[in-house]
Amino acid sequence: MIILKTPQEIEFLRQSNRIVADVLVTLRDLIQPGITTKELDQTAEDLILNNGAVPAFKGYMGYPAALCASVNEEVIHGIPGPRRVKTGDIVSLDLGVKLNGYYGDATITVPVGKVNKETEKLLRVTEMALYEAIKMARVGNRLYDISYAIQSLAESNGFSVVRDFVGHGIGRDLHEEPQIPNLGRPGHGPRLKKGMVLAIEPMVNQGGWQIKVLPDKWTVVTADGKLSAHFEHTIAITDAEPEILSLPSPVEEHQKS
Ligand code: MF3
Ligand code: CO
Repeated sequence: MIILKTPQEIEFLRQSNRIVADVLVTLRDLIQPGITTKELDQTAEDLILNNGAVPAFKGYMGYPAALCASVNEEVIHGIPGPRRVKTGDIVSLDLGVKLNGYYGDATITVPVGKVNKETEKLLRVTEMALYEAIKMARVGNRLYDISYAIQSLAESNGFSVVRDFVGHGIGRDLHEEPQIPNLGRPGHGPRLKKGMVLAIEPMVNQGGWQIKVLPDKWTVVTADGKLSAHFEHTIAITDAEPEILSLPSPVEEHQKS
């Protein structure tokens, strides 16, 4: 587990996470009916390399791409390929980069064209769960306060949280201690400390929490075939509000480029 000690370390983490966030904005804007997940992956990899960074997922435990693109009932680790997304689909885009030895990691789930009301609600609740969880990432709280914030919001809206995959510490490695489950008992778990860096990532299912892994050994899908959404930010714990590291550059800078 990393505990940030120097301004340099936090600056490096800001840089790698900002690249992740900026690339995700570009991918979100590219998504339209007919685009393939492979095209999104290619764009992601090109942009990461143009920024002088390295895709963190490619080659990690043999994963073959820069991007995880998980469509509809795919929960996580969807391998980019020739599939063309269509109106009404949702696509979660999970991206990691390494720059100067420090990792960034974030995820958004994007609707393709117009999606139905229930799908919209799943996206809204999952993103809201992420922000409620981030609010709990403060000195004095405990780790499972974060977990419970996700679980309570998801379940009170009639959804379930994925139990077999978790968020994680991040810093000089993509996955560091602690594991951050998306469910847990408030007031329990390790105490949160200043300088901790956490990738908080609610995975919320429209139906049951059970998942299975496809024969490709990567793609995780819901057992009942219902939709799943995923949002993730990398944050740092400070004396005050948590700092969200994986925020995109200000809009003006996007328009310049
Ligand atoms: N964001 C995911 C995670 O935090 C993605 C890892 S996928 C892999 O674990 F391809 F890198 F394995
Ligand atoms: Co992650």
